[in-house]
Amino acid sequence: MAQFKELVFSGVQPTGNLHLGNYLGAIKRFVTMQETHDCIYCVVDMHAITVWQDPKELKRQIREVTAAFIAAGIDPKKHIVFNQSQVAQHAELAWVFNCVARMGWANRMTQFKEKAGKDRENASVGLFAYPMLMASDILVYRATHVPVGEDQKQHLELTRDIAQKFNNDFAESIAENGYGDAFFPITEPLIHGPATRVMSLRDGSKKMSKSDPSDYSRINLTDDADTIATKVRKAKTDPEPLPSEIEGLKTRPEAENLVAIYAALTNTTPEDVLRDHGGSQFSGFKAALVDVSVTKLAPIADEMRRLMADPSHIDAVLADGSDRARVLAAQTMDAVKDIVGFVRSR
Ligand code: TYM
Repeated sequence: MAQFKELVFSGVQPTGNLHLGNYLGAIKRFVTMQETHDCIYCVVDMHAITVWQDPKELKRQIREVTAAFIAAGIDPKKHIVFNQSQVAQHAELAWVFNCVARMGWANRMTQFKEKAGKDRENASVGLFAYPMLMASDILVYRATHVPVGEDQKQHLELTRDIAQKFNNDFAESIAENGYGDAFFPITEPLIHGPATRVMSLRDGSKKMSKSDPSDYSRINLTDDADTIATKVRKAKTDPEPLPSEIEGLKTRPEAENLVAIYAALTNTTPEDVLRDHGGSQFSGFKAALVDVSVTKLAPIADEMRRLMADPSHIDAVLADGSDRARVLAAQTMDAVKDIVGFVRSR
């Protein structure tokens, strides 16, 4: 099997209310990955318009996600930060993948079913084609590793299937064009750590989500210190003290969630947290959780506000990132055109 240079890619949609789940499941881990890998982090604005977005609000959200990346500690000089729509090759490769992927594969995607809801006839065609665009985001850079939260697992499996089928369908042409026995890597999803599925603060059986009507269900990355403290204090719990062993959390989803959040924020494990807090009442544990949440999150919110006050700086970061991403994406797309059998005029 061909060797691929290790490269990290991930994306976040600019669709409002970046929350603690996005931070712990994705953005915080993006920051860590940049110590060991070349990374490309993308604000996926073309994915956002698979459901209606107000144009002015979309622009603001694109800048806000970019601000969150930078405020959290991503270095846009060392790595690439850009918005998807500015690199046309994402859409170009997505078309090729629409022709590689099978209807049956796309039909199985649970996110489409959830987002389309009962009125499937009225969902956009783009919402159905979403996973092929996502595969293209990753594979247009031939990225090998993708840090995401648990909810993206099925999409990444589809990405692997698409890469595999492309490599098989075009095996002869890939070899003839000098790319050996595989053109696309079989990308590895990185779904690690205690907080790959952060749950709602109001209901431990539901994922923390930007679309939950209750703002108390989530901590937004833009929340100030007082709001964070109030939301943690109001978080649903049960009457028992915290257990000392992990097994004791199994039937207590709200307790399990708060322990996972604490572990992720302090770079420890749920076992470590229970070692220190096992036997505590929630009043005490929540006070400790307010402390770490405010210490870790409030400075990010402050820095986001500072960055958002100067949109031209954010736009310059995106323009620079897009220019650098386009160079890489164009190389892949030229090769794909040769492999598929398109006659290239340039
Ligand atoms: P999006 O914008 O919904 O979410 C961004 C990232 O946040 C993670 N996440 C969570 N992690 C833990 N707990 C939660 N409650 C939680 N909610 C969200 C998501 O798993 C994701 O990692 N389809 C993607 C965006 C995308 C993408 C890509 C990702 C487009 N192209 C290519 C990776 C590679 C999405 O809608 O994420």
